[in-house]
Amino acid sequence: MKTVVITGSGRGFGFEMAKIFKANNFNVVLTDINEENLAAAKFEVEQLPTQSKVISVVCDVTKHAQIENLWAEAVKAFGGVDIWINNAGVNQPDKPMCELTQKEIDFLVDVDLKGAVYGSKLAFKHMKEQGYGQIYNVEGYGSNDAMMTGLTLYGTTKRAITYFTQALAKESEDLTDGKVCVCRLTPGIMITEFIKSANGGKTKIELPEKTKKVYNILGDYPQTIANYCVPRMIKNTKNNAKIVWLTNARAFARFLTAGFNKRNFFE
Ligand SMILES: NC(=O)c1ccc[n+]([C@@H]2O[C@H](COP(=O)([O-])OP(=O)(O)OC[C@H]3O[C@@H](n4cnc5c(N)ncnc54)[C@H](O)[C@@H]3O)[C@@H](O)[C@H]2O)c1
Repeated sequence: MKTVVITGSGRGFGFEMAKIFKANNFNVVLTDINEENLAAAKFEVEQLPTQSKVISVVCDVTKHAQIENLWAEAVKAFGGVDIWINNAGVNQPDKPMCELTQKEIDFLVDVDLKGAVYGSKLAFKHMKEQGYGQIYNVEGYGSNDAMMTGLTLYGTTKRAITYFTQALAKESEDLTDGKVCVCRLTPGIMITEFIKSANGGKTKIELPEKTKKVYNILGDYPQTIANYCVPRMIKNTKNNAKIVWLTNARAFARFLTAGFNKRNFFE
């Protein structure tokens, strides 16, 4: 039986992916900084009627030692880790770069960049020893060089995630012959709590009407995107793979059909 670890899986995309992995008989290690959401997520994922098991481990991805503990708990419960997903993330307060405080800058870079760097580093080190495994990092706005006032720092972290993941995949070619696959998930726009707040939920984000319009055309609920991504992760055997939901073709089709397909996620 295979095992997946998903950071930030107390809600949102991570939680939706966890349910699909469990339905595919994967042992699931749920982990989040938010203990309450984590407990609720565990209760729900456990209800799915497959033989695989679920554990939960509280882990703040900005703490190297807590991620080391997360790996140890997963191995103690299930003997190894097949797929490790660095999914935990936070949004940027809707402010131009010059208005962000040092605390806000540090918080965003610590979670969105350093969290994924720590998770990738530790998972890679251990997967190299066990001789197999896949690591996924989650791309986002900025990964493809898109730029917008109010998302400069978030975009910077996601652009860095893209470079980092590709460069680590190169290291994996050299160090493991690509046996450890270091890969990317590109989910597009997801209608989750993420788009509504920043600073760990403390700062509300008021989405402008024109942003809502774009989200209504291009956005999807996270379960739709998880349904697309998880089977592809399970099948994947390639290092440096990239699993993309919102392709250019899909985005183009959405804009073309927007007049007939009225959607409103914000009613
Ligand atoms: N929502 C979108 O439109 C969108 C688009 C592209 C990429 N993404 C990325 O997808 C990932 C998941 O986003 P989501 O929309 O499900 O967000 P979400 O806010 O619903 O879930 C994120 C989870 O991460 C957890 N988390 C935050 N800080 C943490 C920390 N320090 N340690 C551990 N857990 C922590 C939160 O508690 C939460 O459960 C993020 O990396 C995000 O950047 C989101």
